[in-house]
Amino acid sequence: MDLNYDPSHLAKRTILITGGASGFGAAFSTRWATAGAQIIIGDINPAGAEVVARMRTETGNPDIHFIHVDVTSWTSQVNFFREAVQLSNHGGIDAVIANAGISSGAEASAFENPSADYMNGPVPPAPSLKTVDINLTGTMYTVHLALWFLPRNPGSKSCDEAKNEEEMASPRDRHILLMGSVASLHPLVTQTPYTVTKHGILGLFRCLRVSAPMTAGVRVNIICPYYTDTPLMSGAARAILAGVPVGKPEDVVEAATYLVASKKCVGRSLVTGPRLRLDIPDNVYMYGDDALEKVRCVGGDDERAIWECRLHDVDTTDMFTKRIVSVVSAVTIAKGWIGWAKGMAGAVAYPLRGWWAAKA
Ligand SMILES: NC(=O)c1ccc[n+]([C@@H]2O[C@H](COP(=O)([O-])OP(=O)(O)OC[C@H]3O[C@@H](n4cnc5c(N)ncnc54)[C@H](O)[C@@H]3O)[C@@H](O)[C@H]2O)c1
Repeated sequence: MDLNYDPSHLAKRTILITGGASGFGAAFSTRWATAGAQIIIGDINPAGAEVVARMRTETGNPDIHFIHVDVTSWTSQVNFFREAVQLSNHGGIDAVIANAGISSGAEASAFENPSADYMNGPVPPAPSLKTVDINLTGTMYTVHLALWFLPRNPGSKSCDEAKNEEEMASPRDRHILLMGSVASLHPLVTQTPYTVTKHGILGLFRCLRVSAPMTAGVRVNIICPYYTDTPLMSGAARAILAGVPVGKPEDVVEAATYLVASKKCVGRSLVTGPRLRLDIPDNVYMYGDDALEKVRCVGGDDERAIWECRLHDVDTTDMFTKRIVSVVSAVTIAKGWIGWAKGMAGAVAYPLRGWWAAKA
């Protein structure tokens, strides 16, 4: 797919990245800081401070910051956003990348294989659900705060108003990028908690892609990477995937950069994977059993790692959602008419303003 974007659009943006001390988050930070963005990393790992120091040297951009945050703690996240606004060069936040996440084989195995005696004796502790706390509750806290802070970003416009070239190039934005996974689209059998959280992130995206542009002027996108070589990939996963091509972090960075840099991207979902030569008809997307049946490996030079998924999300939906989407569309169109009416009023009043100024 065509990923045309202008990297200069990243310059001067203030971007918050949870889990930015490692893996994708660190790779995004380096790429966007190189393009001149202000980067504010929130991570539970105190080594993030050293990572930031290295990034400053590597990118030549001193405007990269580290704030210690535990995404599972509401207070910690509120403080993260408040401190970020204080650090921001323009007093606001342009983009929030809800990236922090873990995958724990041990927790998944303990969840599916209860070993405590739940019938007798004192009540044993609840199963550990740290994956859910970090990947899902943590992301929902991040997104909830982003929905408050982004519309208050000074100089930013609602994403459905940012239409012309000048607005596209303006660093001010209101963007949430969610970190899904192929586990959002398909089950990773034996990785139940991780799959549950990433299905949840997809649900978050599928609701907010429709409502957030209207209620908060915030654009919401998601990327869903296949297994990719970062510290999150466990030894067991590497062993099971031995000989199978895995994704490259640079393709995930490319997909995320496209979504962050391009204000025209509203409600987009990209899946990334290993670079393959696949023949997928244009009208088939990477979801649904029949879609996968139609995906074929072919020869040729057309090697791809990034695909669109969930594009026709609301085509086959229930009546409740169908009607909500119609209402949202109607309001969006009406808002367009209000914008037009304001513009016309301004045009009509323009000659009167000169007359009024001369009179005063
Ligand atoms: N690597 C893959 O194969 C893959 C595939 C699909 C999706 N993902 C997703 O990408 C995201 C980033 O993962 P990664 O591969 O870069 O792994 P990573 O382990 O390199 O990075 C995750 C970061 O999150 C931080 N973190 C963990 N718990 C936290 C907490 N409570 N508060 C704040 N920060 C916390 C870690 O310290 C780390 O810096 C995750 O959401 C993951 O689920 C990864």
